[in-house]
Amino acid sequence: MQPHVESFFDAQTSTFSHVVHAGPGTPCAIIDSVLGYDPKSGRTDTRAADGILAYVQQQRLAVQWLLETHAHADHLSAAAYLRQRLGGRIGASGAIRNVQRVFTGIYNLPADYCAEHGQFDHLFQADEAFTIGELRACALHVPGHTPADLAFQIEERLVFVGDTLFPPDVGTARCDFPGGCAAQLYRSIRRLLALPGETRLFMCHDYPPSGRKPIAECSVAEQRAANIHMHDGVGEGDFVAMRNQRDAQLDMPNLLLPSIQVNIRAGVLPEPEGNGVRYLKMPLDVL
Ligand SMILES: [Fe+2]
Repeated sequence: MQPHVESFFDAQTSTFSHVVHAGPGTPCAIIDSVLGYDPKSGRTDTRAADGILAYVQQQRLAVQWLLETHAHADHLSAAAYLRQRLGGRIGASGAIRNVQRVFTGIYNLPADYCAEHGQFDHLFQADEAFTIGELRACALHVPGHTPADLAFQIEERLVFVGDTLFPPDVGTARCDFPGGCAAQLYRSIRRLLALPGETRLFMCHDYPPSGRKPIAECSVAEQRAANIHMHDGVGEGDFVAMRNQRDAQLDMPNLLLPSIQVNIRAGVLPEPEGNGVRYLKMPLDVL
């Protein structure tokens, strides 16, 4: 079974969303969709998600899964919006319970804010096998960036890597969010880079230097030869020292506080208050 991948780049958050399926009229999975959010006005918008929606309808795909590689800190997830429009089940790592616990504490949200699965329809166990129609898939547990990162491996030779690896000239993701760990990320990436060289790796982000277009995919062989942080020969100690030093200099992402608040429950926005308006909370002096 040959999987087809359609990738969508959201320039505002430098995020790739992907749709994977076996051909027109078959079941599909939508991976890491984006709900637009303007922090200045507090407005959400569905432009990026509607582009995916139009593609799914044009290809007559049946959405089986809305997959999240992790609780993103740089964009709001459109999974709940797309579930409402297209159906499908929202899936993420079972380890997201740790992220939910930490952040419901930080935001002082009510105990039932993430009750049960926290609006996720399925929480994957580490390395759980599943299917997308006739496509075989596996939710590889690749912690490090956060404790709850997954990489979705489809038909063995395709892997959606989430925030483990970026394109070779950009490197790797930060590890300084609560529960992040550079040594864990090193081992998770080594695991992915132990796959055969021709394995296609699909990115969740690209931050291209000027003059280069965003790259949605590259191969294991390309990463092993040229990733600026994780090429062959880089040892765990060197990687951890580099990552920790780099992370200490990074600002928090612009949308961290709005994003995590929504993404720990699968992209479902807070309930409207008595006046019909939804609100996000902004903790001060905590992060
Ligand atoms: Fe991330």
